Amino acid sequence: MPSEAPNTMSTPQAATARIAPSILSADFARLGEEVRNVVDAGADWIHFDVMDNHYVPNLTIGPMVCAAIRPHVQAPIDVHLMVEPVDALVPQFAKAGADIITFHPEASRHVDRTLSLIRDNGCKAGLVFNPATSLSYMDYVMDKLDVVLLMSVNPGFGGQSFIPSTLDKLRQARARIERWTQEGGQPILLEVDGGVKVDNIAEIRAAGADTFVAGSAIFGKPDYRAVITALRAQIAIGQAS
Ligand code: DX5
Ligand code: ZN
Repeated sequence: MPSEAPNTMSTPQAATARIAPSILSADFARLGEEVRNVVDAGADWIHFDVMDNHYVPNLTIGPMVCAAIRPHVQAPIDVHLMVEPVDALVPQFAKAGADIITFHPEASRHVDRTLSLIRDNGCKAGLVFNPATSLSYMDYVMDKLDVVLLMSVNPGFGGQSFIPSTLDKLRQARARIERWTQEGGQPILLEVDGGVKVDNIAEIRAAGADTFVAGSAIFGKPDYRAVITALRAQIAIGQAS
């Protein structure tokens, strides 16, 4: 398990913001080096996008690639499953060294069961909400969530533009999570994925996100450290607002 697991935090809002570079935009021919470099540059997690050419119209990487990068970094590997069905891949990714596994509720026939399956395999569990997916999927499974991930683009590709309505949805998700933790529930991270850049991350933080996926913003630039430092500076501005 990672040295810094989501459940070790007091409250998500109080926690240090996490930056999770998406390796979808990394150089796949040099993936081990890429993940080492981005963690050395200050990344907190490695975001690992799994696409199946069925749930989404793209095809990426699976458990074998997760196992291949696992020895290169200590940082938690955050596996984002854009696959349908979900369950068969959960034990495979747990075995491959995943720390966090999130999935889209529309892609699992039994959402509660899939969340339990992820935790039973020793990973942190989360639901991913597409731009048009209702947050009501959270209602009866709050106790089984370690992470809520809001998509700020339609899943399938890197390099898309941030959908502005995500800001309001983040505020709604944050309110639900705060209510839950104030009533004694476990901490739940609020992650955002898609189109996150230096010039919009402050308002995304201000809307309530605490964990930020960024693919093209980081891997599209030569100096990963410079981008991550700039993202953190903007997060601090957003946090103060
Ligand atoms: C999209 C993926 C994202 C994507 C983010 O389906 O889930 O993780 O790689 O890439 P950027 O930051 O370029 O939008
Ligand atoms: Zn993703």
